[in-house]
Formats: sequence, C-alpha cells, structure tokens
Amino acid sequence: MRWAVLVGGTGSNLKALLAFGLRVDLVVSHRPGVGALDIAAEHGVPARVILPKDYADRLAYDQAVCACLEEFGIEAVAMAGFLRWLSPAVTARYRGAILNLHPSLLPSYTGLHAIERAFTDRVLWSGVTVHFVDEGHDTGPIVAQVPVPRLLEDTPADFERRIHQAEHHLYPRAIQAVDQGWVRFIDGMVSHQGGNREWMHGR
Ligand code: GRF
Repeated sequence: MRWAVLVGGTGSNLKALLAFGLRVDLVVSHRPGVGALDIAAEHGVPARVILPKDYADRLAYDQAVCACLEEFGIEAVAMAGFLRWLSPAVTARYRGAILNLHPSLLPSYTGLHAIERAFTDRVLWSGVTVHFVDEGHDTGPIVAQVPVPRLLEDTPADFERRIHQAEHHLYPRAIQAVDQGWVRFIDGMVSHQGGNREWMHGR
C-alpha cells in the first residue's frame, strides 16, 4: 500500500516508522518548519505543507489534503502529530485506512495533553493506543494498545519519555499489520488474523 504520514511536530514517530523499514510515499504537515519535515527530507520522502490559514474553512482545508493524497496515489494514512480533527471529506474517503496514534489507553484521556493529564492524576498505568480514525474525536475502533506504568519516582519528563518509547515500538508494528492485511476494518469492527484464526472486536 502507498502510505502518507500526516505530521505537525517533532516527527519522532515518522522517524521510527522509517527506521522500522516502512515505505512512506508522502508526508503532509499542517505546520511549517517542524522537525518532521526535516526527517522527511533526510529520508528523501516527498513532503507538502498545507496551512490551515490558506483555506476558508475546515472542509476546504480537508479537501486540499485529500487532493494532495490523491495526487500521490495514497491508499492509507497514518497520523503522527497532525493536531487537527479530520472531517468526513477525509475520513469517509479513507475509511478503514486511516490510523491515529494517541498517547493514552483510550477511551481514557481523549484529546490534548493526555500524557500530562494522566501524570497529574497520578495514574498507575497509562499507555498508547493505535486506532482507526472515524468521525469522532479519538473514538475509532482500536487496533492495538500497550500499557505504560507511571513509576513512583517518575518526573513528568520520565513518564513522557516512556510513553514515546512505547509509541515508537507500537506504531510501526500496527501500521505493518494493517499494510499486510493482518488487521482489517470491517463494518466498524476490527478483524485480527493470526495463524489460521480470525477474531473481531469493536468498542
Ligand atoms: C505523539 O505523542 C502522538 O501520540 C501524538 O502526537 C505526538 C507526535 O509526536 N498524536 P512526534 O511528532 O511523532 O514526535
């Protein structure tokens, strides 16, 4: 499959995907000058910056993103630091083929600042979730999760570092599973295949 990665930040997950050996055909950023664009350039991955301020509204912006994905023949999309909610213009076009990475064990701590909020609440465990993107906010069917402990001696930075390490491990493997068809989105559910077994789950 031809994959695009949607970014907007430091690009540590983009780097992890590339280091894992996944092929990335396009990077789209909603912010200029971010680390993720440097990483794309270092790896020779074509990149486009599409700025929200250049479009009248969210729909026009998302249509521009979609047009760019179409131009590059993109079949599947991985979000990694793209801090914008996608409208159905994108989610419907790529249904079952858009993944998001979220730094908590969803459905806990949806939205922004999930790591800081979990730390402030002194949770024993948080974690990382990869899910298919639907029209809701961090609500799509879950592909994979990994728990991450908050240790007693952790500073916020320690805890955040451990969450990011888990992201860098989980996301490439989840993308590979979708790319290879081991995990599929079927009627709003997630199908997993392993050996000669198949099992489904939803939320
Ligand atoms: C990650 O923490 C991810 O969970 C969140 O955005 C962050 C992106 O980080 N959605 P990076 O740009 O990949 O370093």
